Amino acid sequence: MSYLVLARKYRPTTFSEVVGQDHVTRTLANAFVSGRVHHAFLFCGPRGCGKTSVARIVGKALNCLVSTDGAPCGTCEACVSIQNGSAPDYQEMDGASNRGIDAIRELTEAVRYQPAMLKKKVYVIDEVHMLTTEAFNALLKTLEEPPPHVTFVLATTEPHKLPNTILSRCQRYDFKLVPTSRLAQHLTSIFKKEELGIDAGAIGLLVRESGGSVRARCPIRSSRTSVTPRSPSNTSRKSSASRIAR
Ligand SMILES: Nc1ncnc2c1ncn2[C@@H]1O[C@H](COP(=O)(O)OP(=O)(O)OP(=O)(O)O)[C@@H](O)[C@H]1O
Ligand SMILES: [Mg+2]
Ligand SMILES: [Zn+2]
Repeated sequence: MSYLVLARKYRPTTFSEVVGQDHVTRTLANAFVSGRVHHAFLFCGPRGCGKTSVARIVGKALNCLVSTDGAPCGTCEACVSIQNGSAPDYQEMDGASNRGIDAIRELTEAVRYQPAMLKKKVYVIDEVHMLTTEAFNALLKTLEEPPPHVTFVLATTEPHKLPNTILSRCQRYDFKLVPTSRLAQHLTSIFKKEELGIDAGAIGLLVRESGGSVRARCPIRSSRTSVTPRSPSNTSRKSSASRIAR
């Protein structure tokens, strides 16, 4: 299984599965329980710490058809469509490749229309710090007062590059690098679920290489002995361990 497939497979799907961002997930979960949910979120923090994952969970929490406690069920039509990327009303846009005023004008035009399928339209703008000044200005009014059926999630690794006008219109959440011990525990549980044996030293190495990001690459080669399949079908499992390397 490739590294990318593994990262996707273990993408957290509920607030409680998110590792090491309790200060973010607790506040968000409480907001959904109380029904007091802001219309514009700003998720800041280092790469691979859960910003996109939590944006999807927020999208599901806003749209889940069965949840009564604010936690998305993960199995209703709305949750599944956001999870598998087929929901037309949940859009993730890359701010780095849609930097200009035209892309933002198109977006502010589209937000006016009612959702096609979900209860709420959710627009995620990744790497939002890459937008041009004109694009930021074009976004301001809609960000301040979007139609009631719209929620924005802006995400960035470089919040210091955002204008104050954008910062002041969003509810900000700062994601953190995950502490070593928590990351080691998380990686150990993934290896266990994949039925791959790994010694504590190798986990320590992975944790150090990750630098606190949960999107850990697993630089394991089949020639290394630290990762060994648990089951008797050693050969086939071993090749799967080597494929995790990329
Ligand atoms: N807090 C976390 N808890 C559990 N898994 C996580 C967490 N953060 C990241 N991951 C893992 O890393 C992968 C990428 O995470 P995600 O896309 O949410 O990161 P990101 O903060 O949006 O990164 P980027 O800044 O590069 O866009 C997920 O699919 C998941 O496997
Ligand atoms: Mg992301
Ligand atoms: Zn649901």
